[in-house]
Amino acid sequence: MKPIRKAVFPVAGLGTRFLPATKANPKEMLPVVDKPLIQYAAEEAEAAGIDSLVFVIGRNKRAIPDHFDKAYELEAELSAAGKRKLLETVRNVLPSDVSCVYLRQAEALGLGHAVLCAKPVVENEPFAVLLADDLIKASPQGCIAQMVGIYQRFGCSVLAVEEVPWVDTRRYGIVSTVDGVEGELRVTSIVEKPAPEVAPSNLAVVGRYILTPLIFEKLATTPRGAGGEIQLTDAIAALLEVEPVIAYRFQGKRYDCGSKVGYLQANVEYALDNPELGREFAAYLDELCRERRGERL
Ligand code: UTP
Repeated sequence: MKPIRKAVFPVAGLGTRFLPATKANPKEMLPVVDKPLIQYAAEEAEAAGIDSLVFVIGRNKRAIPDHFDKAYELEAELSAAGKRKLLETVRNVLPSDVSCVYLRQAEALGLGHAVLCAKPVVENEPFAVLLADDLIKASPQGCIAQMVGIYQRFGCSVLAVEEVPWVDTRRYGIVSTVDGVEGELRVTSIVEKPAPEVAPSNLAVVGRYILTPLIFEKLATTPRGAGGEIQLTDAIAALLEVEPVIAYRFQGKRYDCGSKVGYLQANVEYALDNPELGREFAAYLDELCRERRGERL
C-alpha cells in the first residue's frame, strides 16, 4: 500500500462570508489567536508524516506562499534586536524537510475543481485534502493522523464525519452508511447539501479527506453541479460505485471557521487554552459576562 505523503490545501475560495476581511486576503490566512488557519492545517498534515504540501491558490495568490517562504528581512531585524523566541517562531513556520508546491486555480469553479487542479503534482498516489477553515483540535493525534491510521487498515478513501443538527444538513455533504465487519462505517451514498426533510442522515462530511487517485478520473468527468461548481461530493459519489469509502468519526473538536460564529468560538477557546494569555483572558471574559448579565437584570 502506498503511504500518504502529499496533502492538498484548496485555498482558492472567494470567502464571501468574511468580506471585507477576505477582499485582498484568503480566508485561510485569518488568524486564530496568533497563527493563520492555514498554518494549523499544515502542522496537522506534517504531524501525520506528510512531507509535500500542495496549495491550490486563487486570485489573492501572494499571502500564502509569502507566509511559508523565508522572510530574510524580518529574520535579520529580529536577530539584530536579539528577539530569539520570535525569530524561532518565524523560522519554524514549517520544518525544512517539508516541501511546498503552489498551483493556481484560475477560476473558483468549486472544491472539486480545486482538487482536480492538484492532479499533476499528486499523480498516482493516495493523498490527503485539508480544508483549513475547518479547524480541528485533537490530541494526542491530529485528525489527519487518525485518518491515515484508518487508511492503513482498510486501504481505501476515508472521509471525516460528525453528526450535525438536522437543520444544518443543507450546509454539508451528508452520507448514509452501513456497519462494516470490523466496526468501520462503510459509505453507501453521499449527497451535497440536502434539505433536512430528504437528508439520508445527519452525518456530515467535514474538511478532511483521504482520497485514492481514482478520484481525479471521477472529477474529470463530473459535470458542474449546484451553483455551477464542480462538487467533490459528486465525484466521491461516483468513486463509491467502484471502490469502498469509509466514513470516520474523528476524535476531537471542530470549529467551523468559515462561519463568523465558529471563527469567534475558536478564537475564544484557543485563547483560553493559551499558556501566556489564558488566565488574563478568562478573567476578562468572566468580568464581561458579569457586567452584561448585570445590564440585563
Ligand atoms: P467554501 O464552500 O467554504 O467556499 O469552500 P468559500 O468561497 O471559501 O467561502 P464562502 O462560502 O464564499 O464564504 C470550501 C473550501 O474549498 C475551497 C475554499 O478555499 C475552502 O477551503 N475552494 C472552494 C477552492 O479552493 N476553490 C473553489 O472554487 C471553491
